[in-house]
Amino acid sequence: MRPYDIAKPLLFALPAETANRSVHRLLAAVDGTRVADAMADRYTVADDRLAVEAFGHTFDNPVGVAAGFDKNATIPGALASLGFGFAEVGGVTAEPQAGNARPRMFRLKEDEAIINRMGLNNDGAIVIGERLKNVDAPFPVGVNIAKTEHVGTDEAPEDYRTTYDHVAEGGDFFVVNVSCPNSEGFEELQNRDAMEAILGELQDAGAAPLLVKLSPDLPEPAVEDALDLVTELDLDGVVATNTTTERPASLRSPNAVETGGLSGKPIENEATEMVRFVAERVDVPVVGVGGVSTPEGAYRKIRAGASLVQLYTGLVYRGPSIAREINEGLLDLLAEDGFDSVEDAVGADL
Ligand SMILES: Cc1cc2nc3c(=O)[nH]c(=O)nc-3n(C[C@H](O)[C@H](O)[C@H](O)COP(=O)(O)O)c2cc1C
Repeated sequence: MRPYDIAKPLLFALPAETANRSVHRLLAAVDGTRVADAMADRYTVADDRLAVEAFGHTFDNPVGVAAGFDKNATIPGALASLGFGFAEVGGVTAEPQAGNARPRMFRLKEDEAIINRMGLNNDGAIVIGERLKNVDAPFPVGVNIAKTEHVGTDEAPEDYRTTYDHVAEGGDFFVVNVSCPNSEGFEELQNRDAMEAILGELQDAGAAPLLVKLSPDLPEPAVEDALDLVTELDLDGVVATNTTTERPASLRSPNAVETGGLSGKPIENEATEMVRFVAERVDVPVVGVGGVSTPEGAYRKIRAGASLVQLYTGLVYRGPSIAREINEGLLDLLAEDGFDSVEDAVGADL
């Protein structure tokens, strides 16, 4: 029995957000202590075949923590000791936000999924920017930048820029989040002109490496528009995908009726197909996210064109050893297929 088989029923007896907060507190408490060193020994898979070079950084392994798990950049060090190769903190907005009323995060246990309508609750760019300056994580830390709730689309470029200015010093890469389904008017942010204005403003401010995170709900022509922009503006990468407002017919959990973005197993294949769609059209690294929870699933995204993968929901369902399990499994899968490294397998199915 894995230790998480004991902890999981206890955590799952709590409301989803409360359980998350407990895990955060625990991770924050061990960060920088000998317990964290022991965790790093236990969970890190040190193997050169896992290393990936992408947008100017070296990632010791391709498995990262997706945005939303460490919204306030309080635990990047602890996430590194869980064996992850990188973390994306945030979404950060220019002003602090309380987010939506609770409950706003729901487990769909039967589906190994989550629906959330957090509403981008975070401490705001000033506080998080200061915190990031003191983060001493042994891996690349990306910052997910989102729009402040009350700001309209026309003022969005300035709003994103304000956030960037505050977090610039502490981030290793920056992800423009125009795809949060819990944010007012997010569809508008993903139209070509709005995206161009936001991304252009951030580039003027010096934001680099700069990536854009897309929604799985975008119609194909809109994705193509967005990808044209990626090429025209010479962006550094694409993160695919965010959560979906769709509800696949396969969902069995009673919580499927909740409003918000769906993540986890039910979006895995769609996210992988979006990775493939993106990788076929742009020449920059793709970060594959959506339902990753097994070595096979991570490997499918890599073969579909992802240089890196990220996960959130998988961590909730599979527990703290997930990065180790995926990295160990990836090494076996690479060997079976005769690849010398993860980088060799990127896009093998394209
Ligand atoms: C509770 C929760 C909060 C999230 N917050 C953010 C966020 O602030 N910014 C963002 O870009 N994505 C956010 N996401 C989306 C994840 O980063 C990821 O794209 C999505 O959950 C799919 O990955 P998964 O199936 O591994 O969870 C959030 C997801 C969850 C479950």
